[in-house]
Amino acid sequence: MDFFSYEDGTYRCEGLSLEDIAARHGTPAYVYSEKTVTDHFRKLDEALAPVPHVICYSVKTNSNLTILSHMASLGSGFDIVSGGELFRVQSAGGDPGRVVFAGVGKTREEIHRAVEAGILMFNIESLPEAELISQVASEAGRDVRVAVRINPDVAADTHDYITTGKKETKFGLPLARGLEVFQAIGRMPRLSPVGVHCHIGSQITELNPFTEALQKIGPLITRLREEGFDIRYLNFGGGLGIIYHDEAPSTAARFADSILPRVRPLNVELLIEPGRFVVGNAGVLLMRVIYIKETDAKRFAIVDAGMNDLIRPTLYGAYHEILPVRPRASRKVTYDVVGPVCESGDFFAKDRSLDELQAGDLVAIKSAGAYGFVMASNYNTRPKPPELWVTGGSVRVARRRETLEDLVAAEMDALKT
Ligand SMILES: Cc1ncc(COP(=O)(O)O)c(C=O)c1O
Repeated sequence: MDFFSYEDGTYRCEGLSLEDIAARHGTPAYVYSEKTVTDHFRKLDEALAPVPHVICYSVKTNSNLTILSHMASLGSGFDIVSGGELFRVQSAGGDPGRVVFAGVGKTREEIHRAVEAGILMFNIESLPEAELISQVASEAGRDVRVAVRINPDVAADTHDYITTGKKETKFGLPLARGLEVFQAIGRMPRLSPVGVHCHIGSQITELNPFTEALQKIGPLITRLREEGFDIRYLNFGGGLGIIYHDEAPSTAARFADSILPRVRPLNVELLIEPGRFVVGNAGVLLMRVIYIKETDAKRFAIVDAGMNDLIRPTLYGAYHEILPVRPRASRKVTYDVVGPVCESGDFFAKDRSLDELQAGDLVAIKSAGAYGFVMASNYNTRPKPPELWVTGGSVRVARRRETLEDLVAAEMDALKT
């Protein structure tokens, strides 16, 4: 469940009025609900309780330090894809011993940082990468645990850009080469191959792709054990979908019911890397209508947030619900909700029927907690919005609004020479 709702005529986060939040902190602004994050994490944790497991929250989804610190306090581990994300986990007080590191392009520096930090394991995506990890680990005099990311060639029925388990994608190594890859890695100094990793995509609303992937991965684990590999972990990735519009995604309980009967006989510690499921519905992007503009063809609601703040609608054609913070209960009107950025792709909704809006109105874009702020940019020299963390009845500024000075700071030295 999420903790956003209408009460006394205004939209609220954990009971706090978004009008008050906008008055105090300005717009646009991301507003996150701690209770929602906690609820989602706990639901998954409880559903997986019948097997030994670690939830490794996927840092890429929303990497704000306050969220990472909260996840650590809930007992979460972390899934990272860069040295930068490891730095964030460490800065937030997360335990590197509960960090798994995926990604097809890990550099020597990133590997070195992770080896020195003593992460739980690397998810290896290619043999050249394994060789480099072995080299770096040898130089550092450290043994490292690795899992091999297997690409099971399963269709996830989601957007092409977030499908990762089909053989045409750049991710993982083919199932059919699994044994051979483990044998090669087993011969590399300082590497202990202890796990199999598989992440088939994101915003997956059906259970079939997960069970199909497991049906393919399970026999590989059995085979590897027969060949003498000490496989102790199955990392099943993330991907659980959420409701943006009219999806009917699986619940944590149904997900667990469908995978656990196949996981239990494997006798492994289960790792999973959820991101969107934990934080997606825990955030809104709060913005204000600047103008209403009517042309022969369209009626535009021009808001003060843009594609640089939330790129999902234009990048993925993603649907986000748009709610007036104080509905007027007047007539419905069809709008294109667009930002100020100089691109026709700068929109949040097209031909959307909404309660009639006026300049000055506040609106909230729902389900903006995942892949929202983390994908924000400064395009058009627009400062990034603040991230506001609603906790225990008050608002904490988890990231302040950027200033124009922030935006030029890294360039000023060039003018001094
Ligand atoms: C390796 C890996 N694990 C986990 C995730 C998180 O996925 P989601 O946010 O769909 O749970 C991703 C994102 O695509 C990923 O690439």
